[in-house]
Amino acid sequence: MNKDTRKSEVFRTVNLRKYYPQTQSFALRDVSLTITKGEFVGVKGPSGSGKSTLLYLLAGLHTPTAGEIYFQEKPLKNIRNKALYRRKNIGFVFQDFYLYPRFTALENVLFPCLRRFIVPASIVKKAETQLEYLHMGAKINVPVEVLSAGERQRVCIARALLNDPQCVLADEPTGNLDTENAENILGLLKKINQECGTTVILVTHDEKVSHYTHRLVHIVDGNLKED
Ligand SMILES: Nc1ncnc2c1ncn2[C@@H]1O[C@H](COP(=O)(O)OP(=O)(O)O)[C@@H](O)[C@H]1O
Ligand SMILES: [Mg+2]
Repeated sequence: MNKDTRKSEVFRTVNLRKYYPQTQSFALRDVSLTITKGEFVGVKGPSGSGKSTLLYLLAGLHTPTAGEIYFQEKPLKNIRNKALYRRKNIGFVFQDFYLYPRFTALENVLFPCLRRFIVPASIVKKAETQLEYLHMGAKINVPVEVLSAGERQRVCIARALLNDPQCVLADEPTGNLDTENAENILGLLKKINQECGTTVILVTHDEKVSHYTHRLVHIVDGNLKED
């Protein structure tokens, strides 16, 4: 592998396995996958095939049973502070939003920073800019509980982008949306990927996902298959 290729690697997994003792099941078996900087990768597969597990392992939320994960060529297991690793590098978008309904769109985007006593004006400005970028400028001060599902998901994406993550991990972000809103969200993820160079790993059942991604991988019974 030449130096330039190695430089552009974001994630590499080598024979990654995850066994959950509670369910006595292998969620992943020997998954080897390389994701390079700026890629938009779609992950498809039946329910229970291990897709979420793969994202949780990459995010350092779960620990592999065997195998190795490299983040920018460094073993993820050597990064002690996984919370800091996530905060600096990873934006997570979930199917179920995980927003605070009474809080406004802006407050939800800022929520990860609210444990600070004072949120710097520059970060507030950044959150506003992020919401505007996702066509939510008119709804910045509206409580999330009155927003549509598509709008809520855009708030989640703005929250995920607040720290300029190297990589966005999106776990079925269109699962609760109708076709039109789902296409809007996929379009926005593509825009972020193209305009900001953010690497995107998107788990989805969406049939049209290949219109948006560079590459599709399939997980079936914990095994990876490339298209
Ligand atoms: N926290 C967990 N504890 C025990 N078993 C789990 C856990 N998370 C997932 N599993 C099991 O691992 C398998 C893969 O799950 P998951 O990664 O959520 O699949 P997918 O996202 O493709 O639906 C399933 O059999 C599921 O029951
Ligand atoms: Mg899942």
